[in-house]
Amino acid sequence: MSQSESPVSPVIQRISEMDTSSAVAVAGHPIHAMSVHFPIALVIATFGCDVFYWWWGDEFWLRAGVWSAGFAFCLGVAAGMVGTAELLLVRGIRNRAASWTHAIAAMMLLSIAGMNWGLRLADPDAVLPLGLALSALASVFTGLAGWHGGKLILHHGVGIMVSDQE
Ligand code: HEM
Repeated sequence: MSQSESPVSPVIQRISEMDTSSAVAVAGHPIHAMSVHFPIALVIATFGCDVFYWWWGDEFWLRAGVWSAGFAFCLGVAAGMVGTAELLLVRGIRNRAASWTHAIAAMMLLSIAGMNWGLRLADPDAVLPLGLALSALASVFTGLAGWHGGKLILHHGVGIMVSDQE
């Protein structure tokens, strides 16, 4: 029997039949998916500010970095709270291992982003090299969390609204 013909495990079969519709949505559009773009962009922007500060030494980039690191963390926590609500409220989402992979990557990201902001508030001079290193690490975890979040939607159909009129 070839691999494509192998029977699907009854557990996987049951999980794939569970509802994965978003519980925190506006007119069927998941709020989490709409809100994650802001922290993603701001984490990368903080990394950009640090590279520019390292390169040119202009303190403008130091100040811009504090603000973008702060908003990256706060908006990330807000998006994470909505994501956590989805994870806990929707049975088809919380029963998928992929959801927990994404949640763990995202919580690692939020921890790094929080540390990155706190470091700048406590000691602006610590941006080089520690802040720059944290910004680079946060960007890597943004990629990991975003990749796994995208898989939830594109591979598992989480939160997808399919209209019967189209
Ligand atoms: C901290 C806890 C988090 C949990 C439990 C969580 C959970 C989820 C869930 C259940 C989805 C599927 C869509 C939905 O139902 O809304 C999702 C999608 C996604 N998440 Fe998260 N999430 C968290 C934090 C984050 C953070 C901090 C980011 C990035 C900064 C992020 C990036 C994404 C992305 C990019 C998607 C796909 C959205 C799309 O393709 O439109 N998540 N997440």
